[in-house]
Amino acid sequence: MKTKIGIIGGSGIYDMEGLQNPDWVSVESPWGAPSDAILTGVLDGVDMAFLPRHGRGHVHSPTTVPYRANIDALKRLGVTDIISVSACGSFREELAPGDFVIVDQFIDRTFAREKSFFGTGCVAHVSVAHPTCDRLSEACETAGRDAGITIHRGGTYLAMEGPQFSSMAESKLYRAWGCDVIGMTNMPEAKLAREAEICYASVAMITDYDSWHPDHGAVDITEIIATLQGNGSKARALIAKLPGLLGTERAPCPLGCDRALEYAIMTAPE
Ligand code: ADE
Repeated sequence: MKTKIGIIGGSGIYDMEGLQNPDWVSVESPWGAPSDAILTGVLDGVDMAFLPRHGRGHVHSPTTVPYRANIDALKRLGVTDIISVSACGSFREELAPGDFVIVDQFIDRTFAREKSFFGTGCVAHVSVAHPTCDRLSEACETAGRDAGITIHRGGTYLAMEGPQFSSMAESKLYRAWGCDVIGMTNMPEAKLAREAEICYASVAMITDYDSWHPDHGAVDITEIIATLQGNGSKARALIAKLPGLLGTERAPCPLGCDRALEYAIMTAPE
C-alpha cells in the first residue's frame, strides 16, 4: 500500500510549502463540507494532503469545525496517516511555551460536536484505549528532534469545548487530574480517525501556561499568536522530515489502527 500523509494544520498553519504539483482540491462528503479545500502534492516522493482545520482565513471555531467531513474527505483521498498539528496550553512547568508534545492520551470534555460516523442503521464501538498511533508518533518525535525542536514524547491532552479559555479553578482541576496540555480541537478528531481506520498522531505546540500558573496571567490571544508564529516554522520543519521517515510504501499498522472496525460493528449484516 502507498503511504499518503495527511496533515491537519491548526491555528497559525493554513498552508504547506515545498510541495511538488500543488493543487487545492475540493472534496465532497456526505458528512457536509470540509473546513476548506485540501492541498495535495508530493514531498520527497511521498503523496501529501494538507487541510487547514479552521479553514483559510480562520473561519471555523473549534466547535464549528466539521470534524466528520474533514476525516471523511481525507479518507476519500486515500490518506493512510494523519498528523494533527495544533496549539495548546501547558499544565506543567517543564512543558514550556515553544516546546512540542507528542500527545498519546485524551480526556474528552467537548459536548457540542458530532463524535461518530456510526449511529442509526449501523452501530459500531471502536476502542480508543490507545487513541494515537505509536508508529506514527515515533516518526513525529524523530522528525521533531531532527528539526532541533524541544519535543516531549507522551502526554494527556484535555479537550475542552471553548471557545473561551478555562477558569483558574478548571485549570487547577485538570492539572490535578494529571493532564499535561489543553486544547480545543483534537477531539473528536482522533476518535473519528480511528473509526475511519486511519493512523493518527498529535503534535501539540505549546503557546501558554493556561490559567493555573502563579507567575503567568490569564491566557491571552496576542501572546498565543506571538508564540504561534515561531511554532509555525518549527512545525513546517518537522513536517518536512516526515516523508523521509515514513517512506512511500506502507506496511499494515503494527497497532491495528487500520483494522479498527474488524471487531467493532454490532449491527447484524443484511
Ligand atoms: N490553545 C492554545 N492555548 C490554549 C489553552 N490555554 N486552552 C485551550 N486551548 C488552547
